[in-house]
Amino acid sequence: MKELQMNMIEQFSEIYDEWLTYYTKQKTTELPASLFTIAHEMKNPLSLMKATLQLMEQDCPLSFSPKIKLLLREVDRMNQLLNDLLHLKKVETCVFKPVDIGSLLEEMQLLFRGIAEKKKVRLSVYSHKKIPFVYGDEERLKQMFINLIKNALEANEEGGKVILSARFKKPNQIEIRIQDTGVGLCEAQQGELFRPFYTTKKEGTGLGLAIVQKILSLHHATITVKSRPQKGCTFIIHFPIHHNT
Ligand SMILES: Nc1ncnc2c1ncn2[C@@H]1O[C@H](COP(=O)(O)OP(=O)(O)OP(=O)(O)O)[C@@H](O)[C@H]1O
Ligand SMILES: [Mg+2]
Repeated sequence: MKELQMNMIEQFSEIYDEWLTYYTKQKTTELPASLFTIAHEMKNPLSLMKATLQLMEQDCPLSFSPKIKLLLREVDRMNQLLNDLLHLKKVETCVFKPVDIGSLLEEMQLLFRGIAEKKKVRLSVYSHKKIPFVYGDEERLKQMFINLIKNALEANEEGGKVILSARFKKPNQIEIRIQDTGVGLCEAQQGELFRPFYTTKKEGTGLGLAIVQKILSLHHATITVKSRPQKGCTFIIHFPIHHNT
């Protein structure tokens, strides 16, 4: 089982290295199709490994249990990485309808209220009344906000703030801001942010912002970041209003 796992990981990392070389030369953030195929194929042996480990855990002597638990956690982490990767692929199919960004932000506030309270971070929403609807895929836009808000909360310490806001910007844009008072970013980090697999977190996959960028580009929207170390981050999204594609 271990050999099979190593073999898969080696194949995966070889393809990833190839893509990285290509990316560095071409400055593209597109991942090659082969990476998705391998990711997809890795899921079956991984579930098999998980099921076998769970069986082993029931039968093994007590002293082995922590090691098996560690392996199970790693298998789960790999599974999460593969799911995120496959998600990146799924994002390409969008269903466009009119979307109320103000309500979406309020929904996000409800969704994250529990997590924010637990972390003792204040999560607020400011949205101008009567901002026009945008044309977009609501589920994908939720996924995009979830990634940005999750990052903002993760960057904050107790007592911090996360502010979500939306306003109409003349002549034909909605400006959305996701602002936090967290650790912030230096200039070098800002250049890396949207690159798939870039992460500074122990348990991160580094695909969150790559997914955000992909979703926004499918909506003809743009995202920029303003930040300084220890001064928090503001992600600014410009969304076109009259784009019917
Ligand atoms: N609001 C923020 N404040 C500070 N650093 C941030 C913020 N958002 C993103 N980052 C930095 O950008 C990196 C990439 O973020 P991204 O969301 O793509 O991946 P991740 O959060 O590390 O992992 P995951 O795949 O679980 O989202 C983070 O690891 C972090 O270093
Ligand atoms: Mg993230």
